[in-house]
Amino acid sequence: MKDHTRLGSIPDLFPESSPATEWLGPSACVLRGFALPYVGEVLAALAEIEAAAPFRQMQTPGGYSMSVAMTNCGELGWTSDRDGYRYAPMDVLTGLPWPALPEVFLRLSQAAAAEVGFAGFLPDACLINRYAPGSKLSLHQDKDEQDFGAPIVSVSLGIPAVFQFGGLKRSDKTQRVPVLHGDVVVWGGVDRLRYHGVLTVKAATHAVLGAHRINLTFRKAG
Ligand code: SIN
Ligand code: FE2
Repeated sequence: MKDHTRLGSIPDLFPESSPATEWLGPSACVLRGFALPYVGEVLAALAEIEAAAPFRQMQTPGGYSMSVAMTNCGELGWTSDRDGYRYAPMDVLTGLPWPALPEVFLRLSQAAAAEVGFAGFLPDACLINRYAPGSKLSLHQDKDEQDFGAPIVSVSLGIPAVFQFGGLKRSDKTQRVPVLHGDVVVWGGVDRLRYHGVLTVKAATHAVLGAHRINLTFRKAG
């Protein structure tokens, strides 16, 4: 509740619709701006990852090219091709193992997970999605991981997007959550298998990332 005695007639600087922490479910939460203190280090690490494991548009099992460009870091990387979806230790594009999870990635994802009640989160995979305006990610469940006891930690960078967060069935109603540079969404526990996606990204420019949205999702995959 807002303290109207203290606020008096001062304009509403922190509307109730966007507090710093927004719960989307019993174990699902948006942490507004949580990644901002880490962004400088994260972007420096990202440049190295991208140089070693370039972004690429993967094929769906149905033979379509995904509009989102992807790469990975960590022991395991999520991949999609005509044979299906899987986690693999190697990048088929380079023939090399995925770049290691940078220490700042670990620090950020562990701090965010702990904030939502998942202390001790130890991700072994980070899928890095790059959206240009016009890209989208259809509603899906993250279910290729071995361990559903661990949450998903999702860090948004660059231009805004609308994250869709649904229920345990594809047909369940979805909430539309605007996600901005520095926002982190965490879902685990009873919310771990909820459907989610990203609506078509609108044209925009970010001061640092230009016309891109980058999303990092940290997972315990193996
Ligand atoms: C994902 O579901 O893998 C990514 C979600 C996002 O880009 O916000
Ligand atoms: Fe996902």
